[in-house]
Amino acid sequence: MQVKYPSESLTTLTDLVLPGETNPLNNLFGGELLARMDRAASITARRHSRRVCVTASVNHVAFNRAIPLGSVVTVESKVSRTFNTSMEIFIDVWIEDRESGIKNKANEAIYTFVAVDETGRPIQVAPIEPQTALEKERYEAALRRKQLSLVLAGKMKPSEATELKALFS
Ligand SMILES: CC(C)(COP(=O)(O)OP(=O)(O)OC[C@H]1O[C@@H](n2cnc3c(N)ncnc32)[C@H](O)[C@@H]1OP(=O)(O)O)[C@@H](O)C(=O)NCCC(=O)NCCS
Repeated sequence: MQVKYPSESLTTLTDLVLPGETNPLNNLFGGELLARMDRAASITARRHSRRVCVTASVNHVAFNRAIPLGSVVTVESKVSRTFNTSMEIFIDVWIEDRESGIKNKANEAIYTFVAVDETGRPIQVAPIEPQTALEKERYEAALRRKQLSLVLAGKMKPSEATELKALFS
């Protein structure tokens, strides 16, 4: 399969925070942001694999900054690493300052998607080659995150998680 670059799967979704999407503090409801990130990541997975893709796991979400009502929110996602049938997708969330237009990072998340065939069976995806320093950093750490996610899901024995052992020994 032909190697692809993370930039080929870049997906950018920009939208407002409207009244029906907030919590009692008038900030974006966490579940609404999860849905926006899942939507962007789903498009990213499809762009990389050109297949139907399903969310296999949400590996990490950091709600570092509240996002107030009326904010312009940009969700940016890219494939950070592929394995056999799965893809790790890194999502950065930005808030745009109304006056300056400058974007400040608000949150980030890491999702795992799996490409499937017409019957829902996992199917191989193209390999990826990181280009930028940040893409390389995220690529390098992805195997560790995959093993951690599989251990937490009960799909891998801790004793088989080579990358995690290396981290702690
Ligand atoms: C995701 C799904 C296709 C995986 O099917 P499966 O029978 O477990 O298949 P496998 O064990 O071969 O796993 C497929 C890949 O997913 C990876 N994977 C599965 N669970 C994972 C997890 N919790 N974290 C990270 N990777 C995971 C596997 O490591 C494997 O990766 P690889 O082929 O790149 O090495 C299947 O569980 C599914 O269809 N789930 C429902 C998805 C869905 O409906 N999502 C929407 C939310 S409701």
